[in-house]
Amino acid sequence: MIVIKTEEEITKMRAAGHLNYLTREHLKSIIRPGITTREIDEAAGEFIEAHGGIPSSKGYEGYPGNICVSVNEEVVHGIGSDRVLKNGDIVSLDIVVELDGYQADACETVPVGDINKEKAYLLKHTEGALYAGLNEIKAGVKLGCVSARIEDYAKKHNLGVVRELVGHGIGREMHEEPDVPNYGKYNTGITLKAGMTLAIEPMLTAGKRYVRILNDDWTIVTQDKKPSAHFEHTIVVREDGYEILTGE
Ligand code: MF3
Ligand code: CO
Repeated sequence: MIVIKTEEEITKMRAAGHLNYLTREHLKSIIRPGITTREIDEAAGEFIEAHGGIPSSKGYEGYPGNICVSVNEEVVHGIGSDRVLKNGDIVSLDIVVELDGYQADACETVPVGDINKEKAYLLKHTEGALYAGLNEIKAGVKLGCVSARIEDYAKKHNLGVVRELVGHGIGREMHEEPDVPNYGKYNTGITLKAGMTLAIEPMLTAGKRYVRILNDDWTIVTQDKKPSAHFEHTIVVREDGYEILTGE
């Protein structure tokens, strides 16, 4: 069942989303070569709790971190550890915040110091793929148009589309219906309605699209060890477009 949210619920999701945004800004202000991924994870947990929120990923299906911190070839679900970030790394900050009973999910992949051209291109066009998909969204459009547009954008820019993980509905729960794959066919799938809240989240790779899971049973990495990026916003479908709930 796809839950349509009332304006009152959307206001709560926007508040959770704003805290998610502030958390990302805080983390970006402390990330530099020499910081460990555990320090990033702990800073996120402290910041979210200091603002009255809950880091929803903690304990989700046994996940040990407050947020997901994924470096370079790690696509998603990286766990904060003693790993020290180096100049030239990229790091994905995938954050789910609960506030007043509602969830907001967003991710940004950020550079650590100076990054090479391959990584800069990957970051620019993974964010580009997110906005290409978002710009399809309005009431009456088929969800497959969003998926297909993300896939088209990624292919046009020669980037791999990870298929094993997908975007999703979101609200009281982190994961609600429907699934939102980052590949698909135009004019297929469910019809978007005003008040649906979705997390749209392309995960793209600089090399091939194939992934595997590490022995920690969480971290997903590219098989070819090429870098991967992940950009995500939680949005609400409007009659004439969409509104980002995890922005400023
Ligand atoms: N943020 C992820 C998503 O986009 C979910 C985090 S998985 C968890 O759906 F286990 F870390 F919570
Ligand atoms: Co998500």
